[in-house]
Amino acid sequence: MPVVAVIGAQWGDEGKGKLVDMLAEKAKYVVRFSGGDNAGHTVVNPHGVFKLRLTPSGIFYKETTSIIGNGVVINPAVLNKEIDDLNKRGIDTSRLLISDRAHLIMPYHIVIEGQEEKALGGKAIGTTRKGIGPAFADKVARTGIRAGDLLDKEVLKGKLATALEKKNNMFTQVYYVEALSFNTIYKQYCEYADRWAPNICDTSTVLNEAITRGEPVLLEGAQGTLLDPDFGTYPFTTSSSPMSAGACLGSGIAPNKLTHILGVYKSYQTRVGAGPMPTELNDETGNKIREIAHEYGTVSGRPRRCGWFDAVAARMSARVNGFNSIAITRLDMLDTLPRVKICTDYKIKGKTINDFPASITTLEKCQPVLEEMPGWQASTAKTRVFSELPNRAKKYIKRLEELIGCPVSMISVGERREQTIVRRSLF
Ligand code: GDP
Ligand code: IMO
Ligand code: MG
Repeated sequence: MPVVAVIGAQWGDEGKGKLVDMLAEKAKYVVRFSGGDNAGHTVVNPHGVFKLRLTPSGIFYKETTSIIGNGVVINPAVLNKEIDDLNKRGIDTSRLLISDRAHLIMPYHIVIEGQEEKALGGKAIGTTRKGIGPAFADKVARTGIRAGDLLDKEVLKGKLATALEKKNNMFTQVYYVEALSFNTIYKQYCEYADRWAPNICDTSTVLNEAITRGEPVLLEGAQGTLLDPDFGTYPFTTSSSPMSAGACLGSGIAPNKLTHILGVYKSYQTRVGAGPMPTELNDETGNKIREIAHEYGTVSGRPRRCGWFDAVAARMSARVNGFNSIAITRLDMLDTLPRVKICTDYKIKGKTINDFPASITTLEKCQPVLEEMPGWQASTAKTRVFSELPNRAKKYIKRLEELIGCPVSMISVGERREQTIVRRSLF
């Protein structure tokens, strides 16, 4: 039975939430496997408009179990608010499960991130300042606190005491900021424990048993491959892997269990935060795309940087993720443009390259080689079958398919579930 991973192929915000909400109709389980509340997944469905940060986008289906996997870092305060908001809007969240191995974001992680970004000054990463990086740093440094620790308050007390002592030393002696109170944090996290203990379990076992029973599973990516700490524009990246390999690691599902890896690409390029972006348009066209497409961050409201589709980066994404097929989203946002362009290669010091470089110093110097195509200048929002797209839009999609080297199974032409052209069913 299908185990489908939906993976961001660019710098995030590709429209993963929309597609997962649509695809989840056929899934028994929907799993978030990476990141934390740095994600902002917009879902527009018959229940309303939702901006989900931690809750999997399958939460709207009564028969579906939503799982926050072990690869996610959880800020329980954010989770409380998100779940309360969903409940107030009539969404039943009782089927939410949380991995006992998922790490917790603690108040000190947010303080550390603020201090680190401040210290970087003009070289700041432009993070979401949710404490994501410091929480993953503690995970790797083996000083993190996990959701499973909430199940035993004595264990929680011991781990918090050890961690906080170190952090407070750093706060008072390095950053010169106030120490945080053990009692306040402990009391707060005991309250989180009382609320979430019944939902915390070994979710890898739950998922693998479901797969053995033949039940369909959907893995919901957060962020995008160009933000991956290994393959993205390091150090202007996030701190966990948004890739297909990260989907396995962050859910406890083995790679050979995945039946389809879907890469999600926007029909153009956007980025929030700092770091190189070869096709960025710092001109009227860039502003026009931002305004037409309302490209402002779901979480932070920050204006997103906009540019032409980068096929060099796209090919790398397809290769390192092993996409079986891809979805192109927001095609409708290009409907009014007289011309559209695609970056096919980079030029650096007179040489043409078509591999995405590891070094950001090199990437910063890369000039995009752009191929121009006439725009279709017709509305695509009501199209539901590929053959009915304007010819020029079809050509654009076919050219992307050719450049990326992977078949397009889905084209999204609007924010609602039904605004999707499905060329191949994944479930
Ligand atoms: P995610 O982080 O990948 O889930 O993407 P975001 O939700 O942050 O950003 C994508 C935005 O595009 C959201 O506002 C979606 O509602 C919207 N969206 C998704 N697909 C389409 C589409 O095909 N057309 C249009 N117009 N909007 C879309
Ligand atoms: P979704 O799931 C877009 C970016 C931040 C910043 C960098 C590091 O909605 O696609 P972090 O807070 O993770 O340490 O910030 O990563 N970033 C995202 N950009 N979409 C996201 O998630 C992002 N999550 C993190 O803007 O540049
Ligand atoms: Mg987003």
